[in-house]
Amino acid sequence: MTLKDAKMPAGAAKLGDFSKARAKLTVSKQEACDSCHQIGGKGGVSCPTLDGAASRLNPDWIYSFVKDPQYWDPKAWMAKRELDDATLQLIVNYIASLE
Ligand code: HEC
Repeated sequence: MTLKDAKMPAGAAKLGDFSKARAKLTVSKQEACDSCHQIGGKGGVSCPTLDGAASRLNPDWIYSFVKDPQYWDPKAWMAKRELDDATLQLIVNYIASLE
């Protein structure tokens, strides 16, 4: 929750209303995040579960990490992907809401 560094833009994550249905489609069908991560009690178990992220992860950090995992850990296994900002914000809103 408190992990950050000087270059991490504060306020990058724009939390607000979002479509949960669209977010679910994005993380499962479109980006297949759930092939690796458990999300909403379903999905892969080989990687950190994203359930509980609401109380564990800082939304700005989620934004920064998903945008560029290798920035945080050069050996990160998770691939960097080209996501437009709207998609990224949708994903961040969704993950940041997982209890
Ligand atoms: C190929 C498997 C894979 C896919 C697909 C994947 N991830 Fe990851 N993710 C990982 C791994 C492994 C880690 C742990 C850090 C590392 O070694 O990369 C991680 C870490 C994370 C973290 C930090 C979790 C924590 O508790 O520290 C977040 C948030 C995250 N991923 C979100 C996503 C999102 C959103 C997507 C879809 C856009 C996604 N991941 C797709 C493998 C994956």
